[in-house]
Amino acid sequence: MRVEIIHASKYGNGKMVAEEIQRLMTSKGHQASVHDHGEARPRELPPADLYIFGTPARIGKPLGSMRRFIKKVDLPEGTRYALFATHGAPQPNKKTGELPSPEEQERWYTSIPVLTEILSSKGLVKVADIRVFVKDLKGPLEDDWQAKVGSFVEQILRER
Ligand SMILES: Cc1cc2nc3c(=O)[nH]c(=O)nc-3n(C[C@H](O)[C@H](O)[C@H](O)COP(=O)(O)O)c2cc1C
Repeated sequence: MRVEIIHASKYGNGKMVAEEIQRLMTSKGHQASVHDHGEARPRELPPADLYIFGTPARIGKPLGSMRRFIKKVDLPEGTRYALFATHGAPQPNKKTGELPSPEEQERWYTSIPVLTEILSSKGLVKVADIRVFVKDLKGPLEDDWQAKVGSFVEQILRER
């Protein structure tokens, strides 16, 4: 299978996720390329069996430049894709020590639903998605990120 991974990453955490996906795909005999979204043309993406798009979150949304990129993606209906989103880990309230409720957390974690809506409206077919957390705004990634990314890749390969 040929896989194109296109991501945005300001502080390098999403880039690490993209490169880990590439490493795992390659180790299983697939061809995988990684591109920063600034170096890719959304209307002229290289041919692939699967596209994986990744974005960091910004104030409850996917990064604006990645959202605009995804809006311009021009691929045939039925093309398979997967998404990963990097997010700040939920922080306990400084006074109460309590974590935000699941509903409150969802408000800051909309990258995957927003990008899914755009791509699915173009007739593309999602096979998997994953949220990976950073411990602080600039990183590092959460402790078990590699295991999470491993499960994500396994899920994609099962869906083939
Ligand atoms: C201005 C700003 C706003 C952010 N807003 C959110 C947010 O709403 N939700 C969230 O989960 N993470 C938020 N983050 C944390 C980012 O998700 C985090 O920096 C990013 O995932 C790290 O990935 P990168 O190293 O690939 O850039 C924000 C970060 C910055 C700098």
